[in-house]
Amino acid sequence: MDDDPVSLNNCRILIVDDKAENLELLTNFLEPEGYEVAFATSGKEAINIATIFLPHLILLDVMMPGIDGFETCRRLKSLGKVKEVPVIFVTGKSELSDIVEAFSVGAVDYVTKPIRQEELLARVSTHLQLQALINLRDELISTLRDKTLELEKLSKLKEQQLETSQHFSHIGELVGELTHELGTPLSVVRTAVSHLNEKQQELAQQLQKQTLAKHDLQTFIDNTAQSCEIVLSSMDNVMHLIDSFKNIVVGEFSGTISQCNLHDYLHNIQYVLTPKLKRTPHTVSINCPQTLHIVSDTGALSQVLINLINNALIHAFEEQTAGTIDIHVEHQDGNIALNIKDNGKGIECEKASKVFDKYYTTRVGTGGSGLGLYIVKKLVETRLNGSIALSSEPGEGTVFNIVLPQELRN
Ligand SMILES: Nc1ncnc2c1ncn2[C@@H]1O[C@H](COP(=O)(O)OP(=O)(O)OP(=O)(O)O)[C@@H](O)[C@H]1O
Ligand SMILES: [Mg+2]
Repeated sequence: MDDDPVSLNNCRILIVDDKAENLELLTNFLEPEGYEVAFATSGKEAINIATIFLPHLILLDVMMPGIDGFETCRRLKSLGKVKEVPVIFVTGKSELSDIVEAFSVGAVDYVTKPIRQEELLARVSTHLQLQALINLRDELISTLRDKTLELEKLSKLKEQQLETSQHFSHIGELVGELTHELGTPLSVVRTAVSHLNEKQQELAQQLQKQTLAKHDLQTFIDNTAQSCEIVLSSMDNVMHLIDSFKNIVVGEFSGTISQCNLHDYLHNIQYVLTPKLKRTPHTVSINCPQTLHIVSDTGALSQVLINLINNALIHAFEEQTAGTIDIHVEHQDGNIALNIKDNGKGIECEKASKVFDKYYTTRVGTGGSGLGLYIVKKLVETRLNGSIALSSEPGEGTVFNIVLPQELRN
C-alpha cells in the first residue's frame, strides 16, 4: 500500500472479464480517477496476474469460459499473497442465489450490469478505503504488540537489575564502613612506629656521643615493649575485621555450599557490623551453641541476617532509645532455628502481612526500595531451602523465625 494508508491515489485495480467492451468501459471509468488498471480475460489468467500485479482491489465477472468467477474468487482467497484483496463481482446475474454465492466465496460487494459509473466508483472507493483502514489497524495492532513485548522485556530487565543491586547494596555500605574503621588502628600503628623511630634516633645519637646511660636504655626498652603491644593489638583488630569481612563477603559472591561453625560465623557477622553499631545506641547479641555446625549457602545466610539486622536498626527503634537485637539459635531435629528478635515498636497486623511483598516499604521517598524482605524470603526459600515467618506485637517488638536444614544438599 502507499505511504498514506488511506490515500487512494495510484491504487491498483485488476479487472477480470472475458468481454473486451466491458474491460474498456470499466477502464474508462477508473483510469480518470487515478487508479492503475490491469486486465485478465479468464479466471486462470486473473490468478496469475493477481499474484504479480498485487492489486488493491479486484473487479470480477461471473460468467466466463473456463473457471467461472465464483471458482476464481475461491482460489484467489486461498492464495496467501492476495487473499486479503477485496473482490467486487460485476455481473449481469442478479438472482438472490448468485448474490448469496458471491458473498459465500469471499466477495465484499456485488454490482449488477448495466454498470452505473457513479455507483461503481462509490463502491470501489469505499472498499479501497475500508481495506486500507483494515490494513492500518492490523499494522497498529502488530506494532503495539511488538512494543508491549519490548516494554515487558525492558521492565523485566530493570527489575532484575534492581534486585541485583539491592542484593548487594549492604556490601557497598560495609566496604565504606570497613575502610573508615581501619583508619583508627592504622593511625595508632603509625603513631607508635614513628614514636619508636624518634626514640631510636635519639638513642643512636647518645650512643655516638657516648652519653647513653643505662637508665635511657631501660626507658627505650620499656617504650619499645609498650609500642609493640599497641601495634600488635591494633594489627589484630585490623586482621580480625578484614578476616570477618572476607569470610562474609566472599561467601556472598561465590554462592557455594560450605560447612562452618555457626557460632563463629554469627560472631563474624556481628564483628563486621560493629563499625555501624558503634554509631547507634543499639546492641546485637548472639546466643548460639559454640559447637553448632551448619552446611549451607553461608553467603545467602549472611545476606539474610544483615538485612534483618539493618531493618531492625532502621525501622524498629524510636530515636534515642537504646534497642536490642537478639539472635537466638538452636538445633531442632536436623534443622536449625534462628530467631532474630528486636524490642522495638513492632509491626501492626495488617502491615505484617505485606512486609514480604515486592516493593512494600513504609519508607517511600526516603531510600526504601521495599525489596529487602522480598529478597530475604526468596533467599531463605530458594537458596537455603528453609522457611521464614514473622510474629510481631506492636509496642513489644518483632521476631523473624527462620528454620533451615542443618545440612543443605545441592
Ligand atoms: N524490625 C522491623 N521493625 C519494624 N518494621 C519493620 C522491621 N523490619 C521491616 N519492617 C517494615 O517492613 C517494611 C519492608 O521491609 P523491607 O526490608 O522489605 O523494605 P525497606 O527496609 O523499607 O526498604 P529496603 O528495600 O531498602 O530494605 C519496612 O518498610 C518496614 O515498614
Ligand atoms: Mg529493608
